[in-house]
Amino acid sequence: MYDFSDRIKNLNGTATREILKLTKRPEVISFAGGMPAAECLPIDEVREIARDLLSGENAVSLLQYGPTEGVAELNERLIAYLETLGLKAKPENIQVVSGGQQGIDLMLKAFVNKGDTVLVENPTYLAFLQIAKTYEANVVGVDADADGLVISDLEAKLKTYRPKLLYVVPTFSNPTGKTYTVENRKSILRLCEKYGAVILEDDPYGRLRYDGEEVPPLKAFDEHGSVVYLTSFSKTIAPSLRVAVAFGDKDVIRKISIGKQGADVQSPALCQMIVAEYLKRGCFDKTLERNIAVYRERKDAFLNALDKYMPSSVRYTRPDGGLFIWAELPQDIDAAAMLPEAVERNVAYIQGNEFYADGRGRNTMRLNFSSSSVQRIEKGVKILAELIKTKIGE
Ligand SMILES: Cc1ncc(COP(=O)(O)O)c(C=O)c1O
Repeated sequence: MYDFSDRIKNLNGTATREILKLTKRPEVISFAGGMPAAECLPIDEVREIARDLLSGENAVSLLQYGPTEGVAELNERLIAYLETLGLKAKPENIQVVSGGQQGIDLMLKAFVNKGDTVLVENPTYLAFLQIAKTYEANVVGVDADADGLVISDLEAKLKTYRPKLLYVVPTFSNPTGKTYTVENRKSILRLCEKYGAVILEDDPYGRLRYDGEEVPPLKAFDEHGSVVYLTSFSKTIAPSLRVAVAFGDKDVIRKISIGKQGADVQSPALCQMIVAEYLKRGCFDKTLERNIAVYRERKDAFLNALDKYMPSSVRYTRPDGGLFIWAELPQDIDAAAMLPEAVERNVAYIQGNEFYADGRGRNTMRLNFSSSSVQRIEKGVKILAELIKTKIGE
């Protein structure tokens, strides 16, 4: 009936979304989400900050239009925050964005013409694939292993496709929970520089580390402005504030700012100032430490339950942080087809093929460990394992 644009007309909500609506039932143990745990949201801290801000002398500016480039107080705090990650930024190198999601959108808006190739890890962040479709990009998956991207495959694809952009989530990836090694990061950077591809490093999970050693962001090794680093406060403060930051070469940041003017003029000043105050008052480290303890316990409980109940032919990642575990079932087990049955048994996950650029991975699934209590994790993993055993014929 409506004559939609080419870029949007073939995009529909996925079948998975329809099924996952059923997971709203309280009896369903959902490993499908990717949200911070409700009990980890810092309601008391944000209430106090918002009240102070709105009773202060600058209250008007919090409700008024402001600069697209972001509120100065936040920008100063962001520069200091990035420094704690080993990243040295000047004001012209950063742009506040309304969530990492907007950062992705604006990067694609800035770089991608219809038909341009963008490389991603196979599997990658599901929403990236969807946003890339709206820009009519040709998305090509690069093979990956436990260390990160498979460097020979990356080089082959850089040579063949001459992509404008490589998108990666190198630390506690969504969906696999995996972290690229330092060597892998350096090789990726070297190759992308050789073939002239810009790297979009998306890092919403890096601060959620429960075990192991810190690994510097890819951006920390970037000497030539080849990497745009995105980090969001959605998983470390609250997603609904919609505050994230893009850090890159000033010429790229300028284009992102121009793109943002057309998208939403500015990120809400009230939210920006809440984040600035949150950082200033030291709430960030305190609540992060508290939340890390909760997530670590849930991650360990999830892995223990997988070790206890899953058949030995099911393989899974053992992440040191983030929110996700990635499971691979035997090749002939279809996790997508099994999902309705799992939901019927009151347990949910996301089928892995949704995260592949080329629809592979039907025997894989993404499991979120942050949103369920330890008791529900144990119960849900047991149910899931029993269902998988019936499919394997054990
Ligand atoms: C890899 C990745 N990038 C970006 C986002 C978007 O997050 P936000 O827009 O809330 O910062 C998410 C959210 O789940 C994510 O997993």
